[in-house]
Amino acid sequence: MEVVVLRKARNEDLDELYLIDKACFPQHHFSKYFIRLLLEYPSSIAIVALSSNRIVGFTIGVIEEENEGRIYTLGVLPDFRGRGIGRLLLEKLEEELAMLGIEKCCLEVMEGNTPALQLYSKMGYRKVGVIKRYYGNRDGIVMEKALKHLGTV
Ligand SMILES: CC(C)(COP(=O)(O)OP(=O)(O)OC[C@H]1O[C@@H](n2cnc3c(N)ncnc32)[C@H](O)[C@@H]1OP(=O)(O)O)[C@@H](O)C(=O)NCCC(=O)NCCS
Repeated sequence: MEVVVLRKARNEDLDELYLIDKACFPQHHFSKYFIRLLLEYPSSIAIVALSSNRIVGFTIGVIEEENEGRIYTLGVLPDFRGRGIGRLLLEKLEEELAMLGIEKCCLEVMEGNTPALQLYSKMGYRKVGVIKRYYGNRDGIVMEKALKHLGTV
């Protein structure tokens, strides 16, 4: 049985995260410099998924103005898709945000990205807007979700 382990990303994961981002977003991946900035940013939460000690997916969220979480990236290597890893990463990121008292999480996803749109809908995100040509000549769908309160009891 495959065991997937989640942990916080570390600075030394940078090279692997860059390669995964490139594999997931061939046309519009982040630069290594930008991923490093995200990892070092005090308000970011970066989580990796490991299978047999290898990073196979990751997500990075940032707490932005008005105490809102925003998902900057979520990707799973092609060979490891369809096994629940994307959902696990998203659930963990939401949990971390909620633990910090964040009540809303938002994201942009490219129109026509069915796997991601399905994943987010299934996880309770709803479409709240469209940004024309956000991804070059493709529109970005803006989605958001109210997070469950996980603060003090
Ligand atoms: C989107 C992505 C992260 C999903 O990761 P994953 O590990 O394959 O997803 P999971 O196995 O956790 O699937 C969870 C749900 O997502 C949806 N989903 C995943 N892959 C899908 C596909 N190919 N077609 C339709 N729905 C899909 C399903 O609703 C699925 O639930 P189910 O298994 O009960 O049907 C992955 O496809 C990926 O890395 N894509 C490239 C990068 C990207 O587009 N990221 C999102 C940017 S906003």
